[in-house]
Amino acid sequence: MIDTIDKIKKEIQDFKITNEEELEAFRLEFLSRNGKVQNMFGMMGKVPNEKKAEVGKAMNGVKVLAQQKFDDAQLNLKKSSQKEFGAADDITLPVEPTYSGSYHPLTQALNEMKQIFLRLGFNIADGPELEDDFHNFTALNFPPDHPARDMQDTFFVRKTDDQSEQDLVLRTHTSPVQIRLMKDQKPPLRSIMPGRVYRNEAVTAKSYFQFNQVEGLYVDKNVNMGELIETLVMFAKLMYGSDVKYRVRPSFFPFTEPSIEMDVWWENEKGGQWLEILGAGMVDPNVFESVDVDPEIYTGFAFGMGVDRIAMLRYGIDDIRLLYENDLRFLEQFKS
Ligand code: PHE
Repeated sequence: MIDTIDKIKKEIQDFKITNEEELEAFRLEFLSRNGKVQNMFGMMGKVPNEKKAEVGKAMNGVKVLAQQKFDDAQLNLKKSSQKEFGAADDITLPVEPTYSGSYHPLTQALNEMKQIFLRLGFNIADGPELEDDFHNFTALNFPPDHPARDMQDTFFVRKTDDQSEQDLVLRTHTSPVQIRLMKDQKPPLRSIMPGRVYRNEAVTAKSYFQFNQVEGLYVDKNVNMGELIETLVMFAKLMYGSDVKYRVRPSFFPFTEPSIEMDVWWENEKGGQWLEILGAGMVDPNVFESVDVDPEIYTGFAFGMGVDRIAMLRYGIDDIRLLYENDLRFLEQFKS
């Protein structure tokens, strides 16, 4: 009997378990209901009473050995499989959130506006945010000390009495890019000028000391007011839908004559209201003269609109400051 027990013990010790299949084979051979360990205990009946204690002890030793070997092998296999796949691949672990970026609502609105004007045959021009007095004011027919300058008070970065130098300002509109364009290139010209502008405004829910504009300029022979209004109506329809309700009113800008403003009807809970979306007009001959374009040969139109206002309307943002605070809780709402 003891020989049989020793034989099983040796078999258990010699059994190689290196994978799940061998582990299962081991379990079936030794630990299952018909396994060798259980069968071994079944032979207890044949053992003489006086030997029972000794044999029982040996059998129990074998049983513990088999169970121990099984448990250890199972644990080792689990550990090595974790090494192979890595702990992070435990498919039952909660997923780590991945954060994908998104375009800022201003960029989204701007991209839409650019697409529309590219369709209408405009290209895109760029210019500096720090401008000199000539490009920001004088060339645009704001004479020095003219009250029209008060409409666009800004931040003077350099203020000088020296005649050989110019005041430097943070540009109040992107119209100076029109001046640069007309000085650099001969008509015909058809461009938009998107960009950031600055004004000395009190910060409130509706106004901010910086905002973004898209201005446009079209200069050629025989450009007329009808084409201007047609272009603006096209823009309004593409931006706000073909059923947009709009109106055009006379206005004043130093650099356009005549000048107009366009409003669109904005439905809201309180019924709705007219909202001004842009200023525009025919380029004033004085502006052409300051950039050496002959106003007897060329005419042109210009327009300017705020990107912030459009983004706010489009996304129902009621406080302009949100656009500049870069609070992720706000920005995350604009994933497209
Ligand atoms: N530059 C004007 C502004 O910032 C907008 C404008 C542009 C108006 C072109 C007319 C023509 O207010």
